[in-house]
Formats: sequence, C-alpha cells, structure tokens
Amino acid sequence: MASVIVHEQSKQFHLTNGSVSYIIQADKQGKLLNLYYGSAVPDRDDFSYLVEYQHRSTATCRKEGDLLYSLEHLRQEYPEYGTGDYRRPAIIVTQPNGSKITDLQYSSYTVSKGKPSFEHLPSTYVNDDDEAVTLDVTLRDQMLSLIVVLHYTIFSNSPIIARSATITNQGTQGLVLNRAMSLSLDLPDCRYDMTDFIGAWARERHPQRHGLHTGIQAIESLRGASGHFANPTALFSRPGTDEIAGEAIGLAFEYSGDFDLHAEVDSFDVTRLQIGINDFNFFWQLDPGASFQTPEALIGYTSEGFNDLSHGFHDVVRNNIIRGPWKNKERPILINNWEATYFDFDEDKLVAIAQRAHDVGVELFVLDDGWFGARNNDKAGLGDWTPNADRLPNGLTRLARRINDLGMQFGLWFEPEMVNKDSDLFRAHPEWALHTPGRAMSHGRNEYVLNFADNEVVDNIYEQMYSLLSSANIAYIKWDMNRFISEGYDITRDAAHQGELFHRYILGVYSLMERLLQAFPDLLIESCASGGGRFDMGMLHYSPQIWCSDDTDAVERLNIQYGTSVFYPLASMGSHVSITPNHQTGRVTPLRTRSNVAMFGTFGYELDLGKLSDEEVDEVRRQVRLFQDYRKVIHRGDFYRLLAPYDNRKAAWMVVSSDRRRALVGDYKILLKPNSPYTRVRLCGLDPQTVYSVTCTGPSTISGKHFSGVELMRIGLVDTDASSGEMGGVNPLGTTEDFDSKLFIVEAVGEQQTE
Ligand code: GLA
Repeated sequence: MASVIVHEQSKQFHLTNGSVSYIIQADKQGKLLNLYYGSAVPDRDDFSYLVEYQHRSTATCRKEGDLLYSLEHLRQEYPEYGTGDYRRPAIIVTQPNGSKITDLQYSSYTVSKGKPSFEHLPSTYVNDDDEAVTLDVTLRDQMLSLIVVLHYTIFSNSPIIARSATITNQGTQGLVLNRAMSLSLDLPDCRYDMTDFIGAWARERHPQRHGLHTGIQAIESLRGASGHFANPTALFSRPGTDEIAGEAIGLAFEYSGDFDLHAEVDSFDVTRLQIGINDFNFFWQLDPGASFQTPEALIGYTSEGFNDLSHGFHDVVRNNIIRGPWKNKERPILINNWEATYFDFDEDKLVAIAQRAHDVGVELFVLDDGWFGARNNDKAGLGDWTPNADRLPNGLTRLARRINDLGMQFGLWFEPEMVNKDSDLFRAHPEWALHTPGRAMSHGRNEYVLNFADNEVVDNIYEQMYSLLSSANIAYIKWDMNRFISEGYDITRDAAHQGELFHRYILGVYSLMERLLQAFPDLLIESCASGGGRFDMGMLHYSPQIWCSDDTDAVERLNIQYGTSVFYPLASMGSHVSITPNHQTGRVTPLRTRSNVAMFGTFGYELDLGKLSDEEVDEVRRQVRLFQDYRKVIHRGDFYRLLAPYDNRKAAWMVVSSDRRRALVGDYKILLKPNSPYTRVRLCGLDPQTVYSVTCTGPSTISGKHFSGVELMRIGLVDTDASSGEMGGVNPLGTTEDFDSKLFIVEAVGEQQTE
C-alpha cells in the first residue's frame, strides 16, 4: 500500500509502497532536497544525516551567514538558476527587469489519496483512490509571488512514481517561463550506465548503453514530436545490471512534443537526472494569475533487473495511462491494405482483400492512405477528408457496410495534422500551414504542417473528421503524422508568444484526439508517425496502440520490438505480417517467422492473401487461431526479454499469463550457423512447482515433453538449432534456414510431484 510518511519536525516526506522509498526534505534554508531514492527502507524520524553540509574550497559559492551552505553541494528536487548551483536548473523565470534569479522556498504540503488528472495534458489516473497517494509540496518565491507546486504520486502496486509541477504567477507583473522541467532528481553517485533508445525511420528504438561520465549526456527532440531519433525514455542502471538482476532506474515522459532527457554528472560525482519540455525554443508568458502545468514524468526503480522494471512500466501503461473501453477489450486482429495496394485500389479490390482475410479469421479491415480528396498520389489531398470520388464513387458508407456485412469491423487512415498544397483546404487557407513570413517552406513527402496551435484550424479538422466518422460505421482510425515541424512560427501570435508554438501545437493534437474520443467513445485509435516517430506515453493516453515502425521486415522488427518492449507493453505495439521480399529490406523470411514476431504485439496482416499459396493461407489460418487463443496472455501477461537480437545470431522472448499457467516463447534464429552449438534458453516468470507441457511449432527434441517450472527456469529450455550443415533431408529433424524461428507453447498440466 502506498503511503507518504510526514515528519513535521524535520520537514521530511517519505514516499513508500513497500518496494521503493523516495525521501525528501525541506532544509533549513527552505530548499527541497532529495535524501534517498531506491529500494524501500524502514522509516526513521530523521534522515537528515544524509545531507552533508561541509566546508569546501574557496571557489564554492556560499550562503551569506552560513559558510557551510552551498547549493552547488546539495541534492535538490527543483533547482534554480543563478544562486550558486551551476548545474542545469529545473526552472528559469525571466522577470520584467530582465533578472532570472529566483528563490523558491518551501511553504506547505498536502497529502491526498488517489491522484488528480490534468485538464489538457495526458496523465496517469487511478481506478480507485487506494491505488496511489499524492504529495503536493508548495514552494514560493516571496518577491515574485511565484508558486511552484511539485506533485509526487506513488502507486501502491507498482515501483513507479509520477512527478510534475504546476507553476503559478500570483504576482501583479508578467513573468516569462524559460524552463520548466517535469522532474529533476539528484542521485548521490554516478556509477550508472545510461541506456537510451535511439534510431531513425524504419529502425526505431534500438537500445544504446553507455557509461555515464562527468558532464551532460542528453537525448532530445526539436522536431515538434518525440521523434524517431530518440524515444523520451531512458534507463540508468548499475554497470552489471541485466534483464534478470541488478539495480536500475527508468525514466519516461508522458509527452509527445519536444523533450529534453539528460543526466549531468558534476565534479562531485552527483548525477542529476532531468526530463521535461525542451527549453531550446520554449518560453511561455506567465501573466498575473496564470498557471503552467508541466507534462508528467514517470520514474521507476528496481533491484531485480530490466524485465522487472519493464513490468512496472507496462502495468502503469495498461492500468493507469490507457483509457476507455479498449483498455480491457481484446484488440482486433487487423488487415491493412497499405503494402497490398498502396494507392492502387477501388471498392471491389478492397472488399476482395477483406473477404480473403475474413475467411482466415481476421477481424478488422483497415483502409490506409488514398481514400480521400484528390489523393491519387502523395502530392495531393491531405486536408480534404471526404471520400475520393474516382476510387470510391459510392463513398465510404457503402464500403463500410460491405465490410461489416462480411462480419468484419471497418477502420480508416487519417493524417489530420498535415496538408498538401494541392488541396481545397490549402487553397482556401494557405495561412493555416506553419510558415515563417518571408521565408521558403520546407516540405516532407509534399506535406506541410497545419498550425495546430490555432484553435480555428483544429476546429476545422474536427468538423471534417466528425462528419466523416458519423457518416459510416468506423470502429478504428490510424492517426498518421508523416513529418516534423519546420519554419515553426505562429502567425496568430505576437513575438512575445512565439516560444509557445511547439507546446501549443501538441496541446492542439491532444485536444482533437480528446474531442473525437468524447464524440465517439468506442473508437480505437492507432497512432503512427511515419511508423514509430511518435511512440510515447502521451500518445498512449489517447491511442491504446501505436504502429511500431514502417519497417515490417521480421528481422528488423526483432530489434525494434525488443527495444520498444523495455518501456511499452506488447498490447501497445502495432505489428503486422507482410509479404516477402520485404518492401523495406528486400529480405525473404519464412511466413512463420513473420508471424512469430508480429504475434508479440497487437498482430495483424499487411498483404493480400490472394497472393499467397493455398498452403500459406492455411498457415495464416492457424496463426490467427493461435493468436486468438493466446491474445489475453500476450496482451495482459508479463513479458520477459530472454536473449537480445543485436548480434544478429539468436533472439528469444516470452510472455506468461498472470496466473502463470500459460506461456508463449518466441525463439528466433537470425543468421544460420551450420553445425552450431547446443543451446538452452532459461525461461522466466513460471511457477517453479508447476509441471508444464512444452510443444514446439518447429523442429525440436523436447516438443511434447513435460518439465517443471523450476527446470525450465534454472536448467533452461533446450532450443538447439537443428541445422547440422548437411542440407537435403539428411537431418531427421528437418532442415532450417536463415531467419527461421519457433514458438514454444508452454501449458501447465499439473503440480510438481513431491517425493
Ligand atoms: C506512413 C505510415 C504507413 C502508411 C503510409 C501511408 O508512412 O507509417 O504505415 O500509412 O504513411 O501514406
């Protein structure tokens, strides 16, 4: 059970839930300090021995009247600029006289059950008030009447703490907020590796692990979206930590715009972690009476390896971020026509693709790009959300009905934030595309970004989408966003407000999603940004699943989905089986491997089954049935990474139902090594006492045998590759090939016999 233990005398606050402790104190100068963050420790009346006020060198900047007091040497919770702490501050406020100096002092606190939600931003929520406790600590700058409330929510059954800040100008003069981090945390040493999740289009979220060193190590976005380049998440782990053992801290940002996530190691080996809106081009007018709410940051801690930390984040995403009916409803297996047709389709062709998919059990048909406006190629049509008269002369209502008549749900692609110059919307409102007056506009894929910081623009797109979604039975939308902001300038606001554009833009996106969900509460939104260019916890508040990557190659997907799974649950990862040779890599992989990878996600197909042989169609039918059987385990169970794919040899992962009775192990060979070593993979998360049957979908010497959970976890599951190096049917276990894979189906059959 989560609690906040308050020691009034020492002004110490101990947030704990039995697994973690987070201890802070308002010190003698009114500064809020961090005393401890890590595994739960028993409470004591006074932890202030952890604050070391020491005499340091002459170069130290001290408080007048207290030679031992230097902000440079204190581990603070919301540090400020210009008063002796020379590290990056959490907040900078510019005042009418140009000064940026503030002095925030502890003023008061409140503790409440549960957690309040934010109005215009995504945030975690509780399902009942016992699920979390929230501590609000109020800091005040006396001279400016500036109030900063730091919010801390600790969850009862999770190692996650949510942090954010509300900054209010209670004075009579206008202030400018130049920096407002969501979380700042000073750790007492720097023996950490930082793992960030970096990449590019078609190779998103590849883990990159590096030791911390003195100075700043940062990832960030200046694109207007979280981006492909770096995900707004990172791990900070002790050097030996691996998937199953060791200490680690995870940081995640519940925000989809420009972010800054960094670690700063100072001269005394203190590590300052910060995450928040990127202040590079951010300034916000804080008028008298106005408040600014920072987005929420999530911080998690484990002493039991990365898999355990992932479970904490997965649970929070599934239980406290994803909302609405799709939170608990089974996600449909879908077929998407993009790689099957691109722009070359008509109603009958689409219905035929849907029919063939329905015949094998697929549940939702998604019509991708090309159905609207004058969208005959990617040069025209974005912004005009009415059916394309050439391709769909009978409109969407009839198409949706024909799909529904097959017994399938119907879904549709949109790219609401973009416009083509060749569109009625642009012709009527060229000024709605973001541009800097007098400067050329850059484009990406012939697209220009609409000014979502302008409510009039958002209203227009809402009206168009509302009437389209009302016109047909549309159960799902794929919300795409294929380029980032350039020449960012808000022509509706004056110079003093230009620093607000990027944040207001993403608030506009959130508001449109929220309005659509209010109007169509059963709608399932799958977010997408040229694949996984906006895969973050902010988006997951509106769209329970996100297209992981435009790269549908199974081998590439191992890398992408492995990295994505560190912070995000399988139920959030859009993953499809596509045709070979693969459209992004030209690689030919077995159909079973494409499915064995895509199954560890939302699952679906992006091909025309009419192009497959009868045997392949039968195989697809079996895949769909298997997924349907294990969907609950995959989407609600605990996922474990077992063997990372990044050396291009082998990879393995598994998912276990919460009652530990059923599990599915994905075991992947990347490049074939003839006559390769004998291998075992140790499973995780099973019940040691339970006996399980193991069935393998590929060649295996152990298929059909029974093992106890403890054997599978301690000795391991024998997964030796059957490729002996002699092709041509010599091997009784059959031949295997590059990119082969197996699924091991693990089912409880009884309790372990005790002697
Ligand atoms: C983006 C998406 C793809 C597809 C195309 C359509 O690239 O990521 O899945 O929808 O747009 O133009």
